Amino acid sequence: MTKLLASFVALAIFAVVARAQPAVSLLIDNGYASTGSINLAPILQNVSTKKGQAFHFGSTYDTYDADQAWFTTTFQTFYKHVVSENGCKWDATEPTQGVSDLTECLATQSFATSNGNTFRGHNTFWHEQTPTWLPGSFTASQLTGTIIPQHVQQEIQGLGSSVTSWDVVNEVVGDGVSNGMTPLQCVQNKGDWPTVTADGSGQPLVTDLSFIYAAFNTAFTYAGASTRLAVNDYNTGGQDAKTACVISLIQNIQENTNIPYDRLAIGFQSHLMASAGNFYTKQELATTFSTLAALGVNAMITEMDIEINSDNNANLRYQAAIWGDYIDACLYASNCNEFINWDPRDDLSWRGTAAAATLFDSNGNPKPAAYEVAARLQNYAAGNAEPCSTSSGTSVCTITGTGTTTTGTTTTTGTTTTIGTTTTTSSTGGSTGCVSAEYVQCGGIGWTGCTACASGTTCQVLNAYYSQCLT
Ligand SMILES: *[C@@H]1O[C@H](CO)[C@@H](O)[C@H](O)[C@H]1NC(C)=O
Repeated sequence: MTKLLASFVALAIFAVVARAQPAVSLLIDNGYASTGSINLAPILQNVSTKKGQAFHFGSTYDTYDADQAWFTTTFQTFYKHVVSENGCKWDATEPTQGVSDLTECLATQSFATSNGNTFRGHNTFWHEQTPTWLPGSFTASQLTGTIIPQHVQQEIQGLGSSVTSWDVVNEVVGDGVSNGMTPLQCVQNKGDWPTVTADGSGQPLVTDLSFIYAAFNTAFTYAGASTRLAVNDYNTGGQDAKTACVISLIQNIQENTNIPYDRLAIGFQSHLMASAGNFYTKQELATTFSTLAALGVNAMITEMDIEINSDNNANLRYQAAIWGDYIDACLYASNCNEFINWDPRDDLSWRGTAAAATLFDSNGNPKPAAYEVAARLQNYAAGNAEPCSTSSGTSVCTITGTGTTTTGTTTTTGTTTTIGTTTTTSSTGGSTGCVSAEYVQCGGIGWTGCTACASGTTCQVLNAYYSQCLT
């Protein structure tokens, strides 16, 4: 099946250097369940209560996936949010120009509804998985004026107002970007249709960002009043040039469409590998999420998977530690309330069965990462402090404390105390004698920059990893 070819390219960018995985400390070593069945539904309700906003945790589904019985059970008890893996892409939804066919997209939404789940839209614009009549030989003004808005309208209108968020544009930023590029340069660096023609000649086609503004303006007109509209991309989440591009792009979209910031989102796909440098640290994610929170923009983990070389116990534990850090980064951020795992089990993963990149094994049983994710959700819902960065290994982060949790139904039968206390000793750190401007970081674990703030602003703690100069 045609899948995310661009993301295969992306993975090649990460240097594939085999490093030994560190020994890690997990909540599932400290009283949380590591065996038995998991029922996340009541836990996720408690998470939403604690967050003060609905928290959506889910995975991908299509009606033609194997083992539909497993899907039904697992989307009632574990994944509670649905993204159509392929059914809402352009090739599926407008196979003939101007003729909308939402059959599969709507069927995946019905699956969500019938299992008590919410639904997220992916996607209204992507340069891949296009219908045979696209990219075609259309002019820039035909694309921007008619073809893109017509498609966005028929899809968003057709799925209705309950969709939590839409990936309005998917993978529009290049991989060779550098700091300081304008949003247009970031998009042109992609070198893909529609900023160049699709015939391989590299001829410029759409020479400004009007196709993106057209997509967002149309989405804003037809989406529900609280549906978030996202720019979605891979290899993003840290303090790097590509992440800077998606942030500057969302600001540029706001300035050119007047869509309020609180309706906009950045989707961080998070197709990862379990070795240092092939995922973002919790600190890096927290910093990026805080930057977006200051704007009022939502952050979402939209396509998470973690390739491991073999599913031995050490790799499975490292995978659990990374997954735990990512879900904590989302849970403890004020502006993150959607977390999608890309493909629900190993044998159905686009990364391949051998990559063992999902939360469930090929028999449909939960892996250590699934139990650890359940534990992080429970730990958050109980009001406990954020655990330390478990993917850093036990030399940096050792979780102590006890929790008593029965297996089978995950009914908490005892109190959980001091989960999340750590051996991390770094304090707020930072340099004196210099000044951070408004919206710039001024403290947090690991911060080595300026701790004083420009006049008129004060250094405010947003989380343990990030303080920012704000008025
Ligand atoms: C949800 O929260 C309620 C109230 O604090 C608690 O009684 C219940 O055990 C929690 N449920 C789960 C599954 O953690």
